[in-house]
Amino acid sequence: MDDANGLLSPSASTKRGRDPIFAMLSKCQAAAAAGADVVNGTIGALLEDDGSLAINATYVDAIKASNALDVAAYSPLSGLPDFNDLLVELALGPERPTLLRHVEARAMATPGGGGALRLTAANLVQPGSVVLMRDRHWGPYLGFLGEAGLQRRTWPLLGPNGNDADVAGFSAALNATVAEQTQVLVWLNDPAHNPTGLSLCAESRADLLEAVVHSALEHPNVGHSLMIDAAYTLYAEEPHGWATTLAGSMDAGMMWPENLMLLWAVSLSKSHTAYGARCGGLVALHPEGEALDRVYEAFAVTGRGTWSGPPRAPQTAAIGVHQDAEQAAAWGQRLDDLTEVLARRRTALVAATEARNVPLNPTHDGFFAWLEHERASDIVDFCASRHVYLVALDGGVRIGLCAMPESCMERVADVMAEALEVVG
Ligand SMILES: Cc1ncc(COP(=O)(O)O)c(C=O)c1O
Repeated sequence: MDDANGLLSPSASTKRGRDPIFAMLSKCQAAAAAGADVVNGTIGALLEDDGSLAINATYVDAIKASNALDVAAYSPLSGLPDFNDLLVELALGPERPTLLRHVEARAMATPGGGGALRLTAANLVQPGSVVLMRDRHWGPYLGFLGEAGLQRRTWPLLGPNGNDADVAGFSAALNATVAEQTQVLVWLNDPAHNPTGLSLCAESRADLLEAVVHSALEHPNVGHSLMIDAAYTLYAEEPHGWATTLAGSMDAGMMWPENLMLLWAVSLSKSHTAYGARCGGLVALHPEGEALDRVYEAFAVTGRGTWSGPPRAPQTAAIGVHQDAEQAAAWGQRLDDLTEVLARRRTALVAATEARNVPLNPTHDGFFAWLEHERASDIVDFCASRHVYLVALDGGVRIGLCAMPESCMERVADVMAEALEVVG
């Protein structure tokens, strides 16, 4: 029944919600309940080896200790000023002073990084336009596009050497888009890309940035917005790599075109293990404060009309943790320890797959690894028949390192090798 007895509007009746990740998770849980020895690589949250949710207690305890006012009162619609300051810090890290000598920054609190994506989709391109992204991306990007009446235009995840950015592919997609639209918006989930774990190297970052700057200079009547989706960045080897790349380019005399804005979608969901707290924000840089104020006025209207205001207590808790040297150190130590857990799991999986000639994609940081495959569903079904549960997405298989203990990796690689043999 497509329109629920005429209750759904025609545009809403195209919305379908079969989520492949939750479907496979249910299958895994049913098998576990029936007594099977399962490996659950479907979950996108960081789990301890015993399957419980990994918690960065410093932050979670700070939320739990919130005072009544912070729980009960509204937040300012764009977030608490000290939280906005923290967002800039989280996005730019140690490069902040260098960058802010050249340009202005603004920030707005949103309910998670998802809210930041929503703000850009609603304001930085016209409905009916395309947003540029790589061909392998977080599935819910499509939902954010759909809600804003947008489509995607993709470029290949990897360049011809199979190893890093496809700068030529990106430039081709950019050129096609500037010829058609008066605004161009790029969503680039880097470092620690979901779903592959790829982190771009410094050279690729610089090349992509140069391509955007070049395009903005060549097309002064087209607004260019490059948004770094930094959801997993604090688990990466270079958490502030984009800020470093930008600072390097500015030191080398980069001309910042007035029709270019750089943005960071910041999420505390992973970095602070606060998925349900809905805390994050959108940071933007541009040479002119007035232009940013105008953009952020529009963002605030979208926020007001979409989620009203961001939750206040998670913002206050984050301010408290980061302004207190001891708490900040404890949070940072736990983040380092969790990053180390992911690194060990990744190293074990990469070694085990290499030993069995399972051709994993390049994977460096964050929660996931990826097997590119045309028949991803068949691979995943075969693995499930051996009680190794992975997720089939467009173009490949997502392996949730975040949810699987290091000790399982040999078994996962064995089953994947067998699946490749059977499926071909
Ligand atoms: C690539 C990517 N971007 C953004 C988000 C947004 O997360 P949240 O809205 O919980 O901050 C996620 C969450 O899974 C993600 O994987």
